[in-house]
Amino acid sequence: MFSKIVKSTTFLLFAATTLSAANFNAGAEKDRLEMIKYFEAKFEDPAKNLNRFFPYSDEEELATKYDKGLKHMDFNIGSYAYSKDAKFQYEQLKEMPPYDYAIDKGEELYTKKFANGNSLQTCFPDLTNAGTYPYFDEKSKKMVSLTSTINDCLRANGEKEWDTKKGPLAEFQAYWVNESKEAGKIFDIKINSQAEKDAYERGKEYYYTQRGYLKLSCATCHVQGAGQRVRNEILSPLVGQVTHFPVLRLKWTDIGTVERRLSGCVVDQGQVPPKDESQTMIELLYFLAYMSNGMPVDGPDVRK
Ligand code: HEC
Repeated sequence: MFSKIVKSTTFLLFAATTLSAANFNAGAEKDRLEMIKYFEAKFEDPAKNLNRFFPYSDEEELATKYDKGLKHMDFNIGSYAYSKDAKFQYEQLKEMPPYDYAIDKGEELYTKKFANGNSLQTCFPDLTNAGTYPYFDEKSKKMVSLTSTINDCLRANGEKEWDTKKGPLAEFQAYWVNESKEAGKIFDIKINSQAEKDAYERGKEYYYTQRGYLKLSCATCHVQGAGQRVRNEILSPLVGQVTHFPVLRLKWTDIGTVERRLSGCVVDQGQVPPKDESQTMIELLYFLAYMSNGMPVDGPDVRK
């Protein structure tokens, strides 16, 4: 009798924890699936979808310059997925990847000794996990990004922290992410606790908040606006938007972090970007990374 009670309470406890663990990401999972559905519908046939999704576009342009029938995984290359001309240029650039130098430099940095004899390798023995960042660190009760964790390692070893936008930090990320890519890893962001759920919700809120005198949110451009032309660029979709960082932008001429790119977009909204290692920035990245869950880690990459 007693053992029966113990058994059934253990079962109940087990059921309760698995249920609640599943619950924490239920909302996020719904967001992710709906977003994939939205983009697949939008890019199923842009010209045919003119009235529904591209009311101000030119039908001729949509019919001749846009690819059709796109599926979830196609969005891993951002706007190159649907823009035929841009995709052609992108594929040519990829034949001699201009970011290879950064992977090599990152590999050297990985084992280079700090003054105390440790190295980045001491902090990060496994580099196949880039797709699990950002995550919530139970010990410090803080969200950690691929960028903040590198500077945390430097600081903990008495080294000077690095610029969070370019230079050695971006180069080391290029090596790290490439190791994850070569190991065939996908984005695998977890939301297993109330703290993580709250962080996701705050990141999502940041994404959908309208800012500046034009009242633009990230979503104005990268959800509703995805596929539309802004000057000479076509707007990329939220899904798959952070799978390929760090990125060598032709405009920058060197490799840069995802924070560098996001800060540019926030400045374009007429706002002051959050600090790169702030919880606000990391929570925004957490939301973005969750929306790319299930997609391959695909950095570094090249963009216009
Ligand atoms: C006024 C429109 C606009 C707004 C608002 C905007 N962006 Fe962008 N964003 C762009 C343009 C244009 C590009 C370059 C073309 C592209 O890849 O989308 C870009 C590029 C990006 C990229 C790089 C995509 C890639 O494939 O490498 C990311 C990530 C991004 N934006 C995120 C954001 C986030 C997060 C916000 C909100 C904080 C935001 N953007 C707000 C216009 C905008």
